[in-house]
Amino acid sequence: MDIQKLLFEMTLQEKLGQITQLNAIFFKKDNTVDVTGPASRLHITEDDAHFAGSVLNYIGAKDMKEIQDMAMAIQPHKIPLLFMQDVIHGYRTIYPIPLGMGCTFDEDLVEECARMAGKEAAVSGVHVTFSPMLDLVRDARWGRVMESTGEDPHLNGRLGAAFVRGYQGDDLKGKYDIAACVKHLAAYGAPEAGRDYNSVEMSEHTLRESYLPGYRACVDAGVELVMPSFNTVGGVPSTGNRLLLDQILRREWGFDGIVISDYNAYREMVRHGVVEDDKEAAVLAINAGCDVEMMSATSYLYAKELIDEGRITMEQIDRAVLRVLDLKNRLGLFDNPYRAASEEEEQKLHLCEEHRALVRRAAEEASVLLKNDGVLPFSKDLRRVAVIGPFAGEKGIKGFWACAGRDEDCASVLSGVRALLPDAQVPSVKGCGWELDEVEVPDLEEAIELASEADAVVLCLGEYQMHTGEGNSRAGLKLPAAQMKLAEAVLKANKNTAAVIFGGRPLVLTDLERLAPAMLYVWQPGTEGGNAVARLLFGDANPSGKLSMTFPYADGQCPIYYSHLHTGRPVKNPKELTKTGYCSRYLDVPVAPLYPFGYGLSYNTYSYDNLTLSADTVRAGEQLEVAVTVKNNGPYVGKETVQLYIRDKVASVARPIKELRDFAKIELAPGESAAVIFTLTEDDLKFHTASGEYKAERGEFDIFVGPNSEELLQASFRFEQ
Ligand code: NOJ
Repeated sequence: MDIQKLLFEMTLQEKLGQITQLNAIFFKKDNTVDVTGPASRLHITEDDAHFAGSVLNYIGAKDMKEIQDMAMAIQPHKIPLLFMQDVIHGYRTIYPIPLGMGCTFDEDLVEECARMAGKEAAVSGVHVTFSPMLDLVRDARWGRVMESTGEDPHLNGRLGAAFVRGYQGDDLKGKYDIAACVKHLAAYGAPEAGRDYNSVEMSEHTLRESYLPGYRACVDAGVELVMPSFNTVGGVPSTGNRLLLDQILRREWGFDGIVISDYNAYREMVRHGVVEDDKEAAVLAINAGCDVEMMSATSYLYAKELIDEGRITMEQIDRAVLRVLDLKNRLGLFDNPYRAASEEEEQKLHLCEEHRALVRRAAEEASVLLKNDGVLPFSKDLRRVAVIGPFAGEKGIKGFWACAGRDEDCASVLSGVRALLPDAQVPSVKGCGWELDEVEVPDLEEAIELASEADAVVLCLGEYQMHTGEGNSRAGLKLPAAQMKLAEAVLKANKNTAAVIFGGRPLVLTDLERLAPAMLYVWQPGTEGGNAVARLLFGDANPSGKLSMTFPYADGQCPIYYSHLHTGRPVKNPKELTKTGYCSRYLDVPVAPLYPFGYGLSYNTYSYDNLTLSADTVRAGEQLEVAVTVKNNGPYVGKETVQLYIRDKVASVARPIKELRDFAKIELAPGESAAVIFTLTEDDLKFHTASGEYKAERGEFDIFVGPNSEELLQASFRFEQ
């Protein structure tokens, strides 16, 4: 399709339609939904809606085809619609929430899962997914930490790029490739007090050092779309933020794809109080660099006036429209507006055995063994295993952004254990529910009885899937009182108990840790969650997940993250309550978290030895090789994530006490050892200096290698220009 020619032939109304995205409910003539409701809120007519260039929030190939047919019949130039959807951690077959995927430290697995999700989505008619979400997260109170891969810019960047490769394949040429949209530029993960949509205040230095690299890695990986965040950064909402969208994204990073606003974000700028009305919102967003407006129609309604008044230009509109047409063209929609949408393929692919096996493996690798005093793995010969707790039989474990996924598709822990141990007795009781304010344990007596009669207990606690995600911030991160009461009673009745904890964020587990001999954190593990958990508990799979986000010791420590600055008055021992004053401490809790970034146990132990550097001094342009030997001292095959951190000891600005610079996930047989070699270059030493340059400064660097961000071997070298 000659899109330049097409653009030339289009009316202004058609063009403005292309940069307007509406919800699917606008398009269904036979739908019972009142289309005049939402349309009137946007001040557009039903006919205007038919000019829209893209649609969000519809489900399924049949719907897609009907809407596409209808739109193309009305569109003067028969321009097909783009269909966009939040395919965040799976389409119908659901893998763990992205924060859990962060704990896999496995780029190949992430890419494979994104590819699978893209394929299931493509056959349901999806062309664009609003994923990956690359907001750096350091505050577990924020409900959307579940959507991020975690607190580290390096890890996020590598996994973000893997998501993009998985969705987009080789330049969108494959039948099942879909376009990715990285979001939410910028720093949406740092709202004040952890409250969703709240303001973000941070220096440009921190923004550039920590918060931007993840998004940037996706741009470098060729992501097709970028979504600005709802929040203000330095008082300016991202949707109207020229520094972010024009200076950094377009000019510095060279991004030439589509910038699509978040839901109603143009109009929310009126509420933010930076513009007076919808018309001014359109000016601000368009001039900042937005192309497509999601779920509002301010450009559609006011662009003509604004062009006439000389406040925006026709060239700006044309450029945005061309970007949309170009994506439609490269997706092949002008040749085949249905693209991969197919009801037969939906039947064949959704929840197929191959996809289930993949998400099961992902759920196994995302789970993190936080504690194990020798209780796990349980023997498969046990005769009686009690599965107790509010999440024992719970199927609502797919997570907040599960798209077309359904609770009834999910395997609960109870069904997983029963399937794995067909000859054992597996009684179960909930004990209590999972509501946050729940205090009573109605089935306490029965829980105690089942626990005391069992050979082992699987105690299923945690946070419900809809208590995380968008709009769901929490001020307290502890387990609800009822769950703690249940845990105390069950653990008193039977010491051979493993706690399985569900969560969409790091919860504060300090009280449970004092009681439970074993704790497995399984996030919201998705469709195959219960089967994966059973395999982990009974040794068919060996835990290998490593925390991609710090677990606080107490709520009040938030935000908390491993790569903090040293301060001028650090405490001597962050793990102890510090008695002396005038240092950076709390009076009531230690400074250290309960579990640090990168932490996670296995049924094996691994030893780290022989950390060696290829040189004492490295000069600009040279490489440094860092080698370490890792040995599996345990009886199982296992995967270990070997982590490399650096510290720039003296620099023109204070540098983090350590920063992840590389990692390698290796598999070792019992008794096997392997040499792991990392290569560092000058680029790995660069940062934003006091004078605003991005470069490496000469001086001494520490290198740390180990199984998590705290237990590390150490060496050092000098960097010279
Ligand atoms: C609002 C969310 O912030 C964004 O992440 C999502 O993609 C859109 N809604 C569309 O559902």
